[in-house]
Amino acid sequence: MLIDLRSDTVTHPTPAMREAMYHAEVGDDVYGEDPTINRLQELSAERTGKEAALFVASGSMGNIAAMLTHAGRGRAIIVGDESHIYRYEGGGASTLGGSPMYVVPTHQDGMLDLDRVEVEIADESDEHVAPTALVCIENTHNRCGGTVLNVQQIAIIADMAHAHGVAVHMDGARIFNAAIALGTPVSKLARPVDSLMFCLSKGLSAPVGSLLVGSKDFIHRAHRSRKLLGGGMRQAGVLAAAGIVALEQMVERLAEDHEHCKQLARGLADYPQIDIDPERVVTNILTFTLRNSQQQKLSEAKTVQFLEKAREHGVLMGSMGGGLIRAVTHYGLEAEHISTALTGIRRVLIEMQL
Ligand SMILES: Cc1ncc(COP(=O)(O)O)c(C=O)c1O
Repeated sequence: MLIDLRSDTVTHPTPAMREAMYHAEVGDDVYGEDPTINRLQELSAERTGKEAALFVASGSMGNIAAMLTHAGRGRAIIVGDESHIYRYEGGGASTLGGSPMYVVPTHQDGMLDLDRVEVEIADESDEHVAPTALVCIENTHNRCGGTVLNVQQIAIIADMAHAHGVAVHMDGARIFNAAIALGTPVSKLARPVDSLMFCLSKGLSAPVGSLLVGSKDFIHRAHRSRKLLGGGMRQAGVLAAAGIVALEQMVERLAEDHEHCKQLARGLADYPQIDIDPERVVTNILTFTLRNSQQQKLSEAKTVQFLEKAREHGVLMGSMGGGLIRAVTHYGLEAEHISTALTGIRRVLIEMQL
């Protein structure tokens, strides 16, 4: 059996989701007539403490729709250099919306460098620069290893942005993981920000879909952005039905994924060839690098070889470039799978004589 730690997106819908999908009542959602989508949107707005919600096809679509709605041509967006929005979404708002992105450093904990955010925020007064419309943050932070931003950290960024009349969007693809790790309701984490995107199709195990939430006016305007992106779906209540099950049944169990990720991190930390700080692992994502007996980081080529060998031993993990490896725990993986994965990884380290 392959133990797939590449991502929490590899999860399959639960039996309850398949059942709900089969029985879902549907209608034409572009006319606002799909009762199951409407119910999912109401539930999402309620859970996040926002006025309204919009069902979108993916996390990337939710983020890009948010940016197109907040910003638009010639209006700038501040993003972190390690953010998913900046690195993995095809330059979304710049490519499609004509919004320049101003990139600021990201700290190890996923927090943006506040001094640089302040420097980059521009108003209309200087004709040389694009005025800032939006600051984007990410919670949990993927490339930082699933780190979480707490309410105070989110509020500091939001207060700074709002003082300049700039909106804040949170890429909360895994916001429920953050909420569980912090013991803080999502509604509290979402309060300081103007919009939030969260995914149903990652740790929550639904097959498809994300939600964009915000004020009624924002979501009204976001409908136009979604349509422009080709995301106006019709009888998509069959998908939303799985999303409702995800929100109602799959949130609390994320704590198990976090526990498994800690188990994996602690096991990996026992291997001298693996550079990882298990104390930094707080949700379902961990990252590590490989090192030789002189404590030097191994080359990208060796890292790729390690990942290939791990696959041969039944353990799948992902490369994040530059020798960084990511492993993600999720629904379907139990403590014994983690033990098996650790044994497989140990064999690879021995075989490669690292
Ligand atoms: C932090 C973050 N934001 C956004 C996304 C995009 O989600 P999707 O793959 O559904 O477009 C991902 C996907 O992995 C992610 O990790």
